[in-house]
Amino acid sequence: MTVAVDINPLLLAVARRMYAAERVDLYEFPVAPRDLASHALLRALAAPARAEPGLHLVFGDAKQPPFAPGSFDTVVTPWLVDVVDTDLESLAATVNSLLAPGGSWVCTGTLFFQQSDPAQAYSSEEVQEIVAGAGFESPQLQASRQPYLASPASRHARVEEVVTFAVRKQGEAELPLRPLPPWLADPRHPVPLLPEVADHALALRVRGYVASLVDGRRSLSDIAAKLVEDRLLPPAEATGIVRDYLLRLHDEARLRTGI
Ligand SMILES: C[S@@+](CC[C@H](N)C(=O)[O-])C[C@H]1O[C@@H](n2cnc3c(N)ncnc32)[C@H](O)[C@@H]1O
Repeated sequence: MTVAVDINPLLLAVARRMYAAERVDLYEFPVAPRDLASHALLRALAAPARAEPGLHLVFGDAKQPPFAPGSFDTVVTPWLVDVVDTDLESLAATVNSLLAPGGSWVCTGTLFFQQSDPAQAYSSEEVQEIVAGAGFESPQLQASRQPYLASPASRHARVEEVVTFAVRKQGEAELPLRPLPPWLADPRHPVPLLPEVADHALALRVRGYVASLVDGRRSLSDIAAKLVEDRLLPPAEATGIVRDYLLRLHDEARLRTGI
């Protein structure tokens, strides 16, 4: 049995139709189209044959995969470890827990870490250390340069260094503990006012105030003037900012009501 997991419903919907040997028509929008005809190209996707029985798709989160510990002989993470929004240390421990004793982890893709914390963008040596520290043998990394998003219809393409390793599980890993912050663990605990939260809260207050000034009579300029008068926005930027807020307000209102 093979289980394919992803968190993107579009990929899963396409994969389901590929597994069933159905055709999917999708438009390609090249990054740098060669000519007018290359701006939107209708592509037909089709697998050469129906998938073997025993291949299952699961819509799930790789950070908390919905499987019992020790369920798999092999876990493959293709192009995942540097895009998933968790630390490699935590992902490696999760992979370990999914594997039966002696199971294998095959990891392939770029090591171009996109995690928001720069401290989680690891060097090759750190990757080896983290994998070994998560209950695996020390990995030998193999690198090869491969074209990526190299469409014949585009003037722009990338070459990426793809790193692959395969390691056996040697022991259990300890999942790094991530305790809940106190204000989530105890509803009576004060919610901390972090600087980024304070900035965002101010922006929300201004947006809320702009929304409260929409009364069917005031114009965009009237609303901008009121915000300048209340010293909430600088005169030079008020009209542009209020315009953006009002556009967003209308878009969100339409989304809510499904118009
Ligand atoms: C670079 S793509 C690779 C797609 C595919 N695995 C392949 O090899 O062609 C990264 C994939 O990781 C998926 N992904 C990102 N975070 C995830 C998560 N937390 N759980 C499961 N899949 C995730 C994305 O939806 C995306 O499909």
